[in-house]
Amino acid sequence: TVVVLDFGAQYSQLIARRVREQGVYSLIVPYTISAQELRKMAPVGIIFSGGPASVSTEDSPRPDAGIYGLGIPVLGICYGLQVMSVMNGGTVRRPDAREYGFAHLHLNHFTGKTSRLLAGIPEGSQLWMSHGDSVVDLPTGFVTTGSTPNCPVTVAENEARRLYGVQFHPEVVHSTDGTAVLRNFVMDICGAKADWSMESFIATEVERIRSVVGDRKVLCGLSGGVDSSVAAVLIHKAIGDQLVCVFVNNGMLRKNEAQNVVDLFGKHFNMRLEYVDAETAFLDALKGIAEPEAKRKIIGKMFVDVFYDAARSLGDISFLAQGTLYPDVIESRSPSGGPSATIKSHHNVGGLPDDLKWELLEPLKELFKDEVRQLGMELGLAEELVNRHPFPGPGLGVRCIGEVTKERLDTLREVDAIFVEEIRRAGLYGDIWQALACLLPVKSVGVQGDERTYREVCSLRAVTSQDAMTADWYRFPPEVLQTTASRICNEVAGVNRVLYDITSKPPGTIEWE
Ligand code: XMP
Repeated sequence: TVVVLDFGAQYSQLIARRVREQGVYSLIVPYTISAQELRKMAPVGIIFSGGPASVSTEDSPRPDAGIYGLGIPVLGICYGLQVMSVMNGGTVRRPDAREYGFAHLHLNHFTGKTSRLLAGIPEGSQLWMSHGDSVVDLPTGFVTTGSTPNCPVTVAENEARRLYGVQFHPEVVHSTDGTAVLRNFVMDICGAKADWSMESFIATEVERIRSVVGDRKVLCGLSGGVDSSVAAVLIHKAIGDQLVCVFVNNGMLRKNEAQNVVDLFGKHFNMRLEYVDAETAFLDALKGIAEPEAKRKIIGKMFVDVFYDAARSLGDISFLAQGTLYPDVIESRSPSGGPSATIKSHHNVGGLPDDLKWELLEPLKELFKDEVRQLGMELGLAEELVNRHPFPGPGLGVRCIGEVTKERLDTLREVDAIFVEEIRRAGLYGDIWQALACLLPVKSVGVQGDERTYREVCSLRAVTSQDAMTADWYRFPPEVLQTTASRICNEVAGVNRVLYDITSKPPGTIEWE
């Protein structure tokens, strides 16, 4: 294991992912972790992340000084290098200008030694810099092995004490040889073994689930999305029929979705699957409601009621399985950090009613999204399923703008299916973060054949994004939009006009409601 101490960097998760890409398990802990606790974890290496603070301020975050004496190699990145320097007797100063952007590495050749951290890195290698402070004097015992014109101490090493630091960001792709630098640290300096793979994860996790669950029963709410699907298949592999899945058809699903879920999990994987058809109940509850938040609240509450009703009828359940991922776990830690930082559980299915005392089973909580996809494929889920676009819990309910009726949902299902089909046909599905169609509460005049029509209007939206926090509209080749629009007008009876949404986020959100 390589432990990443998080000093509040936006890139901490990326550092851990880069380490895992080397086949070495990595996890992120708050910077406040004690040296003693770290010693207990027995990592092969420690990485200090960057962070937004300045070491020159009184209350800037400092790790436990005992860490430097553990004999475990430490790599400080950006703020991590600076804090390591000042805590060991060096000096950090804030130059007039902040350095932000590309720089090129100059290798400092010093007598009698070769840099292990920079082994194989060429002179002039492109680096990504983003810092205000810089190290000006290194502590005794450290040497500078790399520099740039604006930053004399870009790479620093103390071979004897196994302390290393870089001012640039090796974890981002803009640092061309960044991965190689991390690999040098993890594989060579720390001597890590590349034994973290999905195969080994499955083996260990299956054993863990078996021993935690024993002969008790686990309930899993299947949504048809990637996370709950992968979690269910993994748990099923471990405990077979002790897992019961509940799938609620809320009437807001995509075309054929319910049937596909029943076929895949019930038939193909042969799981115990409770299929609850609650379409009418949801539609009745939504009658006459057009306001987005009101719709969301009703759909959310209905789901909880229906799900728990189904669960109660299943009897003695001990665990609720959830597809919580590692980023959720990290992001829900208390901001003050600390080894005792509480980790909030994500109740994807709402708060638990008092009479249901389930423990949570979260077999994906150490994985990043791309690892979950890889895991899903290893477990036999189709590539098409594991690479699905995100789909909101309230489903087409929040894409049927205005009042939700069965008829409008059916229309939208057809529009949505054509849109996704055309995107897949053009081979663009994987380039897009999310594609969605909305049915607008507007009618427009059209002409088809010799006939004047007065029908519904739909909007199409496709966005690119890294994390759904910001998004840009997707530039389709015009032919794709053209084919999609003409198919929609020809094949979907109620629609005679198609719009393409070119709003980015912000100011828009990805969904319309
Ligand atoms: P917005 O519309 O806020 O959406 O830009 C950001 C991402 O979140 C998804 N989304 C949801 N996912 N339940 C979910 O599981 C929800 O209620 C929900 N609402 C929005 C949205 O599709 C996008 O990926």
